[in-house]
Amino acid sequence: MSTASQPIGIFDSGIGGLTVAHAIRQQLPQEHLLYFGDTAHLPYGDKSEAAIQAYSIKIADILLRHGCKVIVIACHSASSAAYELLREYVNKKAHIINVIDPMVEKINRENSGETVGLIGTKRTVQSGVYARKLRADVSLRSLATPLLAPMIEEGFFNNQISHDIIAQYLGDAHLSGIQRLILACTHYPLIKKEIDAYYRGAVTLLDSAEIAAQALKEYLTTTGLLNDSRQATEQFFVSDYTDAFAASTRLFFQREVPLQRHALWD
Ligand code: DGL
Repeated sequence: MSTASQPIGIFDSGIGGLTVAHAIRQQLPQEHLLYFGDTAHLPYGDKSEAAIQAYSIKIADILLRHGCKVIVIACHSASSAAYELLREYVNKKAHIINVIDPMVEKINRENSGETVGLIGTKRTVQSGVYARKLRADVSLRSLATPLLAPMIEEGFFNNQISHDIIAQYLGDAHLSGIQRLILACTHYPLIKKEIDAYYRGAVTLLDSAEIAAQALKEYLTTTGLLNDSRQATEQFFVSDYTDAFAASTRLFFQREVPLQRHALWD
């Protein structure tokens, strides 16, 4: 049985999921966090469903071995490819939260005939997961925007290049007429301001990192699993270490954090 003092496990294809870890840290300052970034296999956005499922199972094993009470799938591509499988696999050993369902629940609750846009990786968009889970009367327009994640990782945001690429994608006819836009990728909170500027505030941006962190808080509160530690700890594992990954943690977590190498396969 899970207890309140066990850590929250968070995983992603790489370090982009630190945006979700950061949102969780903001909302839950007393929780122990254990992050796993599968930097050896990123990007997940271009991988097959089967490959992402295999990686996700291995990562879940590691997080369970560290006694995580909850596993948060911070990665959209992994949430779309592996959530159902992971839930069966992990069964009662830990609760699993993905970044898609809390968003779907919010839209299904609030939507009143709006047209909702979505941008994300090829894997997330091709999976069709949002169309399957959203109410039938929600009109959804999804667009794969694969250049955005590597662009942000290279530190290209708030500049002319990012401005042009964002404008090119958002100007796609498929997204015309939307009233809300789902930011369906770990990296997109970093370009939220630029997207907002593009739409001049006319489109409401839905930030899945914040919404998933809220869902996690709600779950911990209602199940009595909120931790009350005064000294919350953080550990950050990656399956492949490079100095570039270490340097990028600041972009995604708002401060630099130490990365520890942890093999995915025994
Ligand atoms: N973390 C991925 C996602 O949210 C983006 C990066 C990747 O393709 O691995 O879909």
